[in-house]
Amino acid sequence: MAARHFLTLNDMTTTELEDLVDHGTRLRNEWRQGTTRNSLQNRVLAMIFEKSSTRTRVSFEAGMTQLGGSAMFLSPRDTQLGRGEPIEDSAIVISSMVDAVMIRTFAHETVESFAKASRAPVINALTDEFHPCQLLADMQTYREHRGSIRGATVAWIGDGNNMCHSYINAAQQFGFHLNIATPEGYEPNAELLKAHSSCVTVMREPAEAARNANLLVTDVWASMGQEDEQKAREKAFSNYQINQVLMDVADKDALLMHCLPAHRGEEISADMIEHPNSVIWDEAENRLHAQKALLEFLILNRLD
Ligand code: CP
Ligand code: NVA
Repeated sequence: MAARHFLTLNDMTTTELEDLVDHGTRLRNEWRQGTTRNSLQNRVLAMIFEKSSTRTRVSFEAGMTQLGGSAMFLSPRDTQLGRGEPIEDSAIVISSMVDAVMIRTFAHETVESFAKASRAPVINALTDEFHPCQLLADMQTYREHRGSIRGATVAWIGDGNNMCHSYINAAQQFGFHLNIATPEGYEPNAELLKAHSSCVTVMREPAEAARNANLLVTDVWASMGQEDEQKAREKAFSNYQINQVLMDVADKDALLMHCLPAHRGEEISADMIEHPNSVIWDEAENRLHAQKALLEFLILNRLD
């Protein structure tokens, strides 16, 4: 049987995604009660990181250990990948030795090429285009705090980046409306927008996007790989900050999320991280449980 991959949210059906989110909550509750689980005993996850990470690395590595398996960190600095070995050759070899592969890289085509040649499931742990693992955690966190997100309004404030693209996919898959407030020239991918025009609206004014929203979300103004654009982006995004003014126009029960790392005083004011409606720390922790659910699903082809 060909391996299932998770390169974008569209690699799963809505039912599968909803089951994953529920399973993530079950795993979190079990873990908090101290119940041990050995569902992935002797299984190995290879983790290829071509960009930095705190949450993704810690959550995948801890997650594999908590399920009885192990994870191996591979950096291009000390593998042949960094010396130009073809991605397909690397995929054939690595996937012949491990049970799943997680990749964080620049071009989305890299994870697609790897997945095509891989015998083992491949997980996109962030590319320039998408960050689907973060959305599993975000959807799990929303559900745990507010119930189903179906029919809700979500406001994305800031860059039309990889996170924004995954929110666009999530809008369709989980059934919410996404208002995107972004400055001219920083809109999300035009084709993706066109394909999701029924559930996504692009606006200029952050307050318009946030009005009556049930969830406010943002991310850094300059993503990894865009360090040279930091100054220009600070200028372009100066009005695109989540702060009390925006929270005041949102629904009174609106939640606030940020995938982290946060740049306080840029895309989010420092006080908002600890705002009573902020679920940012739960969101970060849920990377662990959402991905444990994902690993079980991809490696075992089932959710126990
Ligand atoms: N949110 C997220 O993916 O964080 P890291 O870059 O620390 O992995
Ligand atoms: N958009 C950010 C997300 C980091 C988790 C980046 O790509 O750097």
